[in-house]
Amino acid sequence: MPVREAVAAAHPNIALIKYWGDRDHALRVPSNGSISLTLSGLKTQTRVGFDPDLDQDQLTINQVPAEPAALQRVGRHLDLIRERAGIRAGAFVQSVTDFPMGAGLASSAAAFASLTLAGCAAAGLELGRQELSALARRGSGSAARSIYGGFVELVAGAGDDDSFARPLAEPERWSIVDLIVLTDVRPKSTGSTAGHSSAQTSPLQAARVSDTPRRLQACREAVLATDFERLAEVVEQDSNMMHAVMMTSSPPLHYWQPSSLAVMAQVRSLRAQGVAVCYTVDAGPNVHCLCLPEAESRVRGGLAHLSLEFGILRAVPGPGAWLV
Ligand code: DP6
Repeated sequence: MPVREAVAAAHPNIALIKYWGDRDHALRVPSNGSISLTLSGLKTQTRVGFDPDLDQDQLTINQVPAEPAALQRVGRHLDLIRERAGIRAGAFVQSVTDFPMGAGLASSAAAFASLTLAGCAAAGLELGRQELSALARRGSGSAARSIYGGFVELVAGAGDDDSFARPLAEPERWSIVDLIVLTDVRPKSTGSTAGHSSAQTSPLQAARVSDTPRRLQACREAVLATDFERLAEVVEQDSNMMHAVMMTSSPPLHYWQPSSLAVMAQVRSLRAQGVAVCYTVDAGPNVHCLCLPEAESRVRGGLAHLSLEFGILRAVPGPGAWLV
């Protein structure tokens, strides 16, 4: 078999309604459904080549050989692709990301969405988007959503086959701007995978999960009606509920930092003055400030009053993963 290569790229996504905790940890079947926005402006590009002469997989991230744990996680994902394609060749994987990794900016979503698409293409597997999404989920839960563009819903099914993402609205539907305030870009000490497995230890998790259908419905309606006020309310509540679970888990996880709280307070104050902005925070200290395009300069003006060390990234609704 000759060497077969493919290159794919994907954007990360920001969860508007968040997934936290797994129904099946090994299969990454989420305990609750989620809705996200795929973020153009940040990107991971991944090259995968299957080479029969390689007896071990190789992985570089931004041109540097990866740590054993990352190589192992990618190797397990490649095994799923190899099993389906009926091939045994080792693979080389080169992944290049243009934003900080492991800092709660969903780098694993962009990484595993692009790895899944490139890996399947290199292995000669022709999968539909739904199958690609379910497969990407096995690498990283949120990666299932980055297969699609725009507003995306990840359905929490009963098991592996029925837990995949589906598009909710095209990127053009609503030009929301995401100003990502970087409060700390160092890799976080507890990653999402460990966090998902301890979610159930919080007495608040059961209440959060059982209330999810209500939040999902409010978010779907807000997106489809492009109703920012409604979106803001449910997005902030959902983020706060997830962090309440994190903080009350054993061991407790505190991702917010004083600077994160300062940004959230500023966003709330701007909204009270009529500015269309809201915040949401993933598993890290950085704060996503979602706003309408006409509010962007006022939001930037408000944030300029805070002494921010690391700057602001800008993202807008973007497309799903694509072959390069
Ligand atoms: C807080 O998809 O990063 O961003 O499957 O372990 O890679 P793994 O988890 P991951 O979890 C996402 C957690 C979140 C919320 C969300 O994106 O829905």
